[in-house]
Amino acid sequence: MTELAQTRRKWNLRYAEKMADAPRPEPHPLALEWGSRFIGGRVLDAACGLGRGIATAGEGFREIYAVDLSDVAVREARALWQSDSRIRWIVADVTQLSWPR
Ligand SMILES: C[S@@+](CC[C@H](N)C(=O)[O-])C[C@H]1O[C@@H](n2cnc3c(N)ncnc32)[C@H](O)[C@@H]1O
Repeated sequence: MTELAQTRRKWNLRYAEKMADAPRPEPHPLALEWGSRFIGGRVLDAACGLGRGIATAGEGFREIYAVDLSDVAVREARALWQSDSRIRWIVADVTQLSWPR
């Protein structure tokens, strides 16, 4: 098994264990502190997990790219954030994706 596959497996197991009734995550305290620097537009939540970055993004963003290696995390996060149509979900190694400048 490759290192990437092991990482995915590890995180899939963790998310599978703690999923029952998991709430939407709260924003990270540091991100809240820096909130005034987030001007809006597009945002990337790299390694999004259940969407802590999404929780931080706020209303100013029109597109949110949420990427995670764990398909279990993305499946569960999708359910938690299903009402938010701004989010594009991607299951992938975020270091291997190409992004616009
Ligand atoms: C500690 S959790 C953080 C989740 C979320 N950002 C948060 O703050 O709650 C780390 C996350 O990174 C993801 N991850 C690890 N390596 C990754 C990679 N190369 N590409 C995308 N996601 C990755 C894992 O699947 C896991 O969801």
